[in-house]
Amino acid sequence: MKPWLRTTGVALLSAGVLLGAAAATLDWGAQARSKRRIEVNLRPLPDAVGEPSPERGRYLFVTRGCAGCHGNQGGGRPVVDDGQGMRVVAPTIAPGPGSSVAGYAAADWDRVIRHGIKPDGTPVLIMPSEDTARLTDADLRSLVRHLGTLPPAARPVAAEVRLPFPVCIAYALGLMPDAAARIDHAAPAPAPVDDGVSIEHGRYVADLCRGCHGEHLSGGRVPSGPPDWPPAANLTPGPDGLLPRYASLDDFRRLMRQGRRPDGSAIGAAMPIGSLGALNDTDLAALHLYLRSLAPRASGGG
Ligand code: HEC
Ligand code: HEC
Repeated sequence: MKPWLRTTGVALLSAGVLLGAAAATLDWGAQARSKRRIEVNLRPLPDAVGEPSPERGRYLFVTRGCAGCHGNQGGGRPVVDDGQGMRVVAPTIAPGPGSSVAGYAAADWDRVIRHGIKPDGTPVLIMPSEDTARLTDADLRSLVRHLGTLPPAARPVAAEVRLPFPVCIAYALGLMPDAAARIDHAAPAPAPVDDGVSIEHGRYVADLCRGCHGEHLSGGRVPSGPPDWPPAANLTPGPDGLLPRYASLDDFRRLMRQGRRPDGSAIGAAMPIGSLGALNDTDLAALHLYLRSLAPRASGGG
């Protein structure tokens, strides 16, 4: 063998070994991150918030996306399966033997829905708990009451989260923080908000947009979305925001209910129109009012 060939071969081999080691380290990093234990001090739910309402619970179950991912009866189902290494199954959350929530106590529901943490202390990876982190105590109780009325699944399915390697790298490096890393676990109890067409109520409804459109609704990459999703739109009225397109409530309603832009084109599949379309007129009008009241922000800043 020519000496230069041998040198190049050794160099390539070392580079390969180094890359392999780096890949293994990153894989280990992602594992370690997803298995980290997070302690939170849960506030006891006060009884004074009134009787939970199963109808309100059902409305939250649909509009907050639980039904969209976990199925209309909470039986669990595959959410993403792109055939290229990304597969996500939302587990059964209806009661009954074999369900991921068999044995859940009230505190376990609070921990997973408002903090993004499973009963064993490890974080959920895909479930967008930051969207429900600020649910009021009354809404949380109504949602949990509704979940308890779902029929047990005939064939319960377990959670599955398989991410493509580049996403694992991003996760290991902390570039793709999970919901638990983005939630302020020490935030005070969310105050009850009266239903009505008010900016305050709109802010409450808008919490369900923040997981994808960012904390300040200025859009950017969707942290838990597959790599081929377009960035979420900037929902502030800024010059590069899309809200000026939706000055009319009718146009906004058409987008949210039918997934159609004012020019008639269809919005991409990433926007969960199935669940957002179930928002009632009051919630949509309040949301529209709130979005229009936001200060303009440049796109992508979260
Ligand atoms: C975008 C899809 C998505 C949405 C929306 C969603 N989930 Fe999940 N959920 C998942 C996935 C995936 C898991 C598996 C854990 C993970 O994310 O790593 C999960 C896990 C769970 C678990 C089981 C945790 C455990 O103990 O293993 C519960 C309970 C749950 N979700 C309830 C809900 C409720 C209630 C809602 C609505 C407020 C909801 N989910 C909304 C996808 C979703
Ligand atoms: C699961 C992620 C997700 C959630 C939740 C979500 N969006 Fe989106 N949204 C997107 C993505 C991604 C796009 C860009 C889609 C495209 O360009 O095809 C988008 C686009 C939009 C647009 C731009 C429409 C246009 O004219 O192009 C508006 C307005 C919008 N979303 C409003 C909302 C509001 C309001 C909420 C909450 C009630 C919400 N979205 C919740 C992911 C989401």
